[in-house]
Amino acid sequence: MSSSLAPRGSIVPGRLFEDDAGRPVQLHGAGIRRIGDRYYAWGEDKSHGGTFGGVACYSSPDLATWTSHGHALAVTPDVPDLAPGRVVERPKVLPAPDGTYVMFLHIDSADYADARLGWAVADRPEGPYTYLRSERPLGNISRDIGVFLDDDGTGYLLSEDREHGLHVYRLSVDLLTVEEVVSTTLAPPSDHPAGPHGYESPAMIKVDGLYYLFGSDLTGWSTNDNKYATAPSPAGPWSAWNDVAPPGTATFDSQVSDVVTVPGTEQTAYVYVGDRWDRHDLFRSPPVVLPLQVAGGRADLVWRDSWTIDTTTGVIS
Ligand code: DGJ
Repeated sequence: MSSSLAPRGSIVPGRLFEDDAGRPVQLHGAGIRRIGDRYYAWGEDKSHGGTFGGVACYSSPDLATWTSHGHALAVTPDVPDLAPGRVVERPKVLPAPDGTYVMFLHIDSADYADARLGWAVADRPEGPYTYLRSERPLGNISRDIGVFLDDDGTGYLLSEDREHGLHVYRLSVDLLTVEEVVSTTLAPPSDHPAGPHGYESPAMIKVDGLYYLFGSDLTGWSTNDNKYATAPSPAGPWSAWNDVAPPGTATFDSQVSDVVTVPGTEQTAYVYVGDRWDRHDLFRSPPVVLPLQVAGGRADLVWRDSWTIDTTTGVIS
């Protein structure tokens, strides 16, 4: 089922955004963060279906009106990790202390057997990024990833390793080395009689000193009831997992990709960004972007048919 485009300037969950050239915005598996007075977003360009079609970059003043910056990282036949037919998913970018930008990527083979973490760097958020390398962090398999930058400048990588669980890794100061596992979480054993595994498509935010970790169960392109846990530190101890949205809605038919912090003058808002995958038409799989109410250890996704956010004040309407 393909989706029509949202009217420009509005956020319509379940509809693709249209970019400044009238094309469907390719922010699948997106990472989004505020840089200066704009929000930059990097996503999978699914014009090649399930295999690598480039990392697309866009920017927006309001999370609704998107300007395309083209490919931040393009298909590169002579770089094995970026060659046609490879899988490159969930681009996530953090600003490094030296003013450069570091892009983290899920690097894989078409059968998802490689399960590696890749790095690319650039002088500007929109790139072009120079690809550095890939590895299995500390020897662990690594598929879906997320990133988090703490107030003290410490960067964390969130990475799904179904042999051990969802890891939170501390990164080096320059963000280019995975230093150590600080915590590993598992989904409830009752959900996984075949053995331990953690959630995937991870994202993290920090609100009033409490860390919130989000993830999805492992159901391929099908959506499920996504979960979150809280902890006083990225090292835990993590609470039990709770539902992000009303149970049975499969997170309003979406899979979390990132949660964007919008620090406004009237309030800090949190914006959930998820994917409603259509395995038969990944290119036109729409995003589900919704307000997330976060306070006192609870995170609740709120359905809106159509909405906007004033990113100056943080007020949602
Ligand atoms: C689930 C992951 O969350 C997606 O990013 C993608 O890798 C699909 N699996 C592929 O089946």
